[in-house]
Amino acid sequence: MNSRLPLLALASLLSCTTASSPTASSTAAAAAADATLGVTAAQAMVVSAHPEASRIGLEILRKGGNAYDAAVAVQFALAVALPVAGNIGGGGFLLYRGRNGQEGALDFRETAPAAASRDMYLDAQGNVADGLSTAGHLAVGVPGTVAGMEALHKKLGKLSWADVVQPAVALATRGLALTAKEATGLNANRAVFLKYNPQKPLAYLAANDGTWQPGDTIRYPELAQTLARVRDQGRAGFYEGRTADLLAAEMQRGRGLITKQDLQNYQPKWRTPLHGQYRGYEVTTFPPPSSGGVALLQMLQMLEPYNLRQAGWHSPTGVHLITEAERRVYADRATYLGDPDFGRVPMTQLLEKSYNRQRMTTTRAHRATPSRNLTAGPNLPAYESDQTTHYSIVDAQGNAVSCTTTLNGSYGSKVVVAGAGFLLNNEMDDFSAKAGTPNAYGLVGGRANAIAPGKRMLSSMTPAILTKNGKLQLVVGTPGGSTIITSVLQTILHVLDYDMSLQQAVAAPRLHHQWLPDQIDAEKDALTPAVADSLRQRGYTIHPRGAWGRVDAIRVLPDGRLEGGADPRGDDTAVGY
Ligand code: GLY
Repeated sequence: MNSRLPLLALASLLSCTTASSPTASSTAAAAAADATLGVTAAQAMVVSAHPEASRIGLEILRKGGNAYDAAVAVQFALAVALPVAGNIGGGGFLLYRGRNGQEGALDFRETAPAAASRDMYLDAQGNVADGLSTAGHLAVGVPGTVAGMEALHKKLGKLSWADVVQPAVALATRGLALTAKEATGLNANRAVFLKYNPQKPLAYLAANDGTWQPGDTIRYPELAQTLARVRDQGRAGFYEGRTADLLAAEMQRGRGLITKQDLQNYQPKWRTPLHGQYRGYEVTTFPPPSSGGVALLQMLQMLEPYNLRQAGWHSPTGVHLITEAERRVYADRATYLGDPDFGRVPMTQLLEKSYNRQRMTTTRAHRATPSRNLTAGPNLPAYESDQTTHYSIVDAQGNAVSCTTTLNGSYGSKVVVAGAGFLLNNEMDDFSAKAGTPNAYGLVGGRANAIAPGKRMLSSMTPAILTKNGKLQLVVGTPGGSTIITSVLQTILHVLDYDMSLQQAVAAPRLHHQWLPDQIDAEKDALTPAVADSLRQRGYTIHPRGAWGRVDAIRVLPDGRLEGGADPRGDDTAVGY
């Protein structure tokens, strides 16, 4: 145990390991947890945001499927078990590293419909119209998940497509017990579901105008039929035929923009992963339209020269350095990052060590740099949820998957496709509706992330895989909108700089700064009162905030076992064998 952790935090970290106990069959005997480690397993591990999805992923591995088969099964299972974020109506980024070191980055991010335009969310006065990009039919981007999963399976899957989709069909048909968190989420959104879905999305509403209780069984008969079409027809079961008809009809009913042509045109993309180094580890992560990968590598470059370990976890100096790196990187993000297929992103410059080290030279020793005095780095070519979910998988052969997938906000746009039973995303809000105007996460953007037909909206999703001397070390990612990038950063720092076990690293209270607004968001117990005071004296504003992020990660321990880090902030569960 790291002696630098404040006692308060220590108590909460230790209480977290029980939250990730496996629920898989008792034959998962190798899985075990002790006081500091998360769940451990000898060969294979699945960590996801829902016990049913983790269980299904593990079953696929036990049947002889590989990590990619398990990823497809987990993705579809989350669409049933985790309606708040799991999806077939959204998109995501999947990073993989095969046992032989081969790797790839699958972009199944949503796209703007063909009828979308730069100013579509502005009113007559040129201001962003309230709520149009965050809920309802106009907020929906063309979903990418089903096409992405098919592309993954075609390239790397071992079991049949039907084998990996069927568990989700079965789950939607037979139903599952609601956890307390899901019951609360669905109850809180009842009115808004009814607002955007006059046809009443019965599967999502408790019977008789009542409220869901934890343990109630929720069933999704229409979603089961949609998933069965996907099982039987692959992407055509979603982007064509009955599902496409239902989705297009739903759009017409609610004056949304997506057409059957948009659905047919959707294509996932294989991209080249980004690489960086940190303290002897190779960090592989996702390229644009993720901003997260670039930002993560920039922050690691900025922080590497400093002895964070000596400064101490959440010490005034440590928080100062990490915050100043975050502030600078988010300023760059707002200016330069967008869909690389629609404008040049100055990647070479942004990822240059000398550029990032230079950016930190404007940091003052014991004073915050006010964000109003800081802009993006100069002279680069002038372009550029929080309910998302993440799963990490390692199979017995050593193949690794790090996948973050999203509807954007909780339950996305709140629109359920009538007759097809699934929720649609509100990803259009991740575009910059108007330069300099914050989106739902308070993030500002510019021209590089302006809306254009077919364009992918900028994302913060940051799936990452770390290796050392060619050997797998860490698979990590999280939901959390704009906080994704800093949560992934902190998990890496917690393990590499602060010697935490992975479960401790995932559970430890977090901090976040994103340039604007100029404040350090702080989870409960993230700072002792004395440290908070010291930071205020340095000019920082501390903004207490409820818990964020659900980091789900896997680490290879020195003895070769796998440790799962399942975030105790949610229903996240690690299982292995
Ligand atoms: N919708 C959250 C993100 O992609 O960053």
